[in-house]
Amino acid sequence: MSNRLKVAPNDLSAFWMPFTANRQFKKAPRMMVAAKDMHYTASDGRKVLDGTAGLWCVNAGHCRPLITEAIQSQAGEMDYAPAFQMGHPLVFEFANRLIDIAPKGLEHVMFTNSGSEGVETALKTALAYHRAKGNGSRFRLIGRERGYHGVNFGGISVGGIVPNRKMFGTLLTGVDHMPHTHNLAKNAFTKGEPEHGAELADELERIVTLHDASTIAAVIVEPVAGSTGVLIPPKGYLKRLREICTKHGILLIFDEVITGFGRLGTPFAADYFDVQPDIMVTAKGITNGVIPMGGVFVTKEIHDTFMTGPEHLIEFFHGYTYSGNPIGCAAGLGTLDTYRDEGLLTRGAELASYWEEALHSLKGEPHVIDIRNIGLIGAIELQPLAGEPTKRAFSAFVKAFERGALIRTTGDIIALSPPLIITKGQINELIDHVREVLRMVD
Ligand SMILES: Cc1ncc(COP(=O)(O)O)c(C=O)c1O
Repeated sequence: MSNRLKVAPNDLSAFWMPFTANRQFKKAPRMMVAAKDMHYTASDGRKVLDGTAGLWCVNAGHCRPLITEAIQSQAGEMDYAPAFQMGHPLVFEFANRLIDIAPKGLEHVMFTNSGSEGVETALKTALAYHRAKGNGSRFRLIGRERGYHGVNFGGISVGGIVPNRKMFGTLLTGVDHMPHTHNLAKNAFTKGEPEHGAELADELERIVTLHDASTIAAVIVEPVAGSTGVLIPPKGYLKRLREICTKHGILLIFDEVITGFGRLGTPFAADYFDVQPDIMVTAKGITNGVIPMGGVFVTKEIHDTFMTGPEHLIEFFHGYTYSGNPIGCAAGLGTLDTYRDEGLLTRGAELASYWEEALHSLKGEPHVIDIRNIGLIGAIELQPLAGEPTKRAFSAFVKAFERGALIRTTGDIIALSPPLIITKGQINELIDHVREVLRMVD
């Protein structure tokens, strides 16, 4: 590692970085060169406490031995097997292990390489399901304002984050959006689920009245919206959405790309809120972020609907070259073993109240207009600098990194989602970093 630390970065211009202020970054790069458990090592040798599990994905912490060993050994044994019309044992084993921990009713899983592909897979499955049932008129997809469902065309169409949409033309047709549930006036500084806003689910009834249920295939929501700045569903909201979907024969898709695999202190958000989706999209924590992978879970009813016709014919014309590739599956199995052995899928529940108190101790610090939390997720919303939205939070992010903590900002919101192995001492350390940077920024 010491050698790597001495290596200067090569020229930075060739790589066009994703979701990054490229010019700012390349003037003052923030580089990571190593990682272990709760920490990164920056290129100047400093330890950086990971307050975001990478990008909401490294739920078991970094460079965990079972995962590393599983990848190493699989890479030497069988690197790749064709995904179409061929199989390999690990992909079936991984699917079974996932179904064992999946929310009730979800009995089959398809694999993708990312959350974005998972969302496309889920939307296409919903449309194809209705068509296979003889309900081809159900072509509409309903998303939500401020929703984030990745960056592909289906995902940005049902998503509701303006900069992710506005550059890309007409997007998918036949899409409508429910209102988001964020209400600072009524819910600021709520601990856990907010009291106000369950009635916003009834907006789905308005949309059904407008378009008619017979034209609507599916509703997709993040149970807890993450990338838009951590919007926690009001009490009763998701149950109400479920009821309305069921009443009208509309499929409910949960995008659990960030909430899946223990983030709320339960294996999935569907368990936490006790609401059963028809389709569930996962990624990130499915392999601890180590190998790009996603899983899309569906009910038996959806799966079985496709399993008709002559047996030599392909039932669903969809899939990726790397769906369930052996090394991804090995990483996934090592991840599930780690989660199981260390009780990580429920560890968040043990830490949640400590986390909540630590976060809310930031109330009263400069610029803070809201703090919200659920499971091991937290958000601190800042008053934007007049005329310069996002600048204050971004400078908090840069200063935190310089001090030795990785936090994440979106708009003027600081979002925290540490690995599920975090200790109470490290929670204090993370919150102290945030407290200090709030006192430093303009
Ligand atoms: C809820 C949600 N859906 C989808 C995605 C897209 O996942 P990916 O970046 O793996 O394509 C993300 C990524 O943050 C997400 O938070």
